[in-house]
Amino acid sequence: MSNRMWGGRFASGPAEIMEEINASIGFDKRLAPQDIRGSLAHVAMLGQAGILPPEDVAAIEAGLKSVRDEIEAGTFAFRRELEDIHMSVESRLTEIVGPAAGRLHTARSRNDQVATDMKLWVRDTLDSLDQQAADLQRALSQAALKHAGTVMPGFTHLQSAQPVTFGHHCLAYVEMLARDRGRFRDARARLNECPLGAAALAGTSFPIDRHATAAALGFDRPTANSLDSVADRDFALEALAAASICAVHLSRFAEELVVWTSAQFNFVRLSDGFTTGSSIMPQKRNPDAAELVRAKSGRIIGALTGLLIVMKGLPLAYSKDMQEDKEGTFDALQALSLCLAAMTGMVMDLEPNAEVLARAAGSGYATATDLADWLVRELGLPFRQAHHVTGRLVGVASAKGVGLEALSLAEMQEAEPRITDAVYAVLGVENSVASRTSHGGTAPDNVRRQAQAWIERLG
Ligand code: ARG
Repeated sequence: MSNRMWGGRFASGPAEIMEEINASIGFDKRLAPQDIRGSLAHVAMLGQAGILPPEDVAAIEAGLKSVRDEIEAGTFAFRRELEDIHMSVESRLTEIVGPAAGRLHTARSRNDQVATDMKLWVRDTLDSLDQQAADLQRALSQAALKHAGTVMPGFTHLQSAQPVTFGHHCLAYVEMLARDRGRFRDARARLNECPLGAAALAGTSFPIDRHATAAALGFDRPTANSLDSVADRDFALEALAAASICAVHLSRFAEELVVWTSAQFNFVRLSDGFTTGSSIMPQKRNPDAAELVRAKSGRIIGALTGLLIVMKGLPLAYSKDMQEDKEGTFDALQALSLCLAAMTGMVMDLEPNAEVLARAAGSGYATATDLADWLVRELGLPFRQAHHVTGRLVGVASAKGVGLEALSLAEMQEAEPRITDAVYAVLGVENSVASRTSHGGTAPDNVRRQAQAWIERLG
């Protein structure tokens, strides 16, 4: 049997394998709420514009609502031969209201319909990702406030660099997430033009009111060019790009959690709720959730590159290739949502091991820069010379297998005779972090103030 929706010029139906490759209903059925919302806005506009008589509008509206009820109740029968969600809804509508249902598709094509549905879905999802990222910021800011003065090693090249505080480290991710949220909102703002009414590609000869449908669906305005409206998926790409960057941030933090929870580091403890055991090794507390956050960034980035590649060779306007925008976009944004939730859970009951962190903060000559700065400040040495003197002292201490604070004053004075015992004060990690009071620095007072400000801002 030929397709009821477009089978007029076909003598027979599609081959089995054609039906299989063509069908998107398996994954675009999740666009049902958006599809019905779009159709309700469209039919109301057709009525207001005098294109459809009120009785048809009323019948179609009632029919669309019953279809929506059936889908919500799980009683709707999705059938592969109907290809996609748009034809599935319309086909059921026809069964419910009869031939008047056929008038719904006046001045519309599946091309503007699917672009509208996808935009509505991506828009809702960006809004909820923004909220979830705010939840994670809140959890991190609380941890930052609690641990504003908990010293830990700061790393460059994963080598001990300078002491920082655990709170400061948490706030670094709060800042990253703030930019991620800015990107979600920017993507939303650029996306928010309505393609509905662009029809197949050229617009329509019916006197439709695109401003009305745009407003009814919460868009700022209708799109300006009918070809562009149905031909681009840059809104999905931009959402995926923003999601990828956010996922990379989460992945880096996840990687840190994996390293920090190892027995060798033992910097933090994840709660039982966010670790798993081993079926053979009883001692294990594996950071699976963190590992999966790290791994899921791969599929999110994959969805972005996948869709970029789908789009890059397509001539204007619509090509069926664009049906491939959906699975990756749905999957990736859903994965990011799960990652944000898992990260928030992990952070909420994360416990830093303060003693281990403090010990580690002082090892590896992490206060060498403090010593060099002291030589500059107290003795007036040029920084390069102070660096050199400090380097010699690190060499002496390292040869003895001790920290800088274990060198005697005499040993210090061999490198620079004017050093006094006041120098020992700056070799402690607490003093080191307390001295970093520059704007954005790791001093506990700074961190406390910033954590407080974030908590207020996030509400
Ligand atoms: N299922 C299609 C998609 O997701 C809907 C648009 C179909 N348009 C067409 N001209 N065949 O892209």
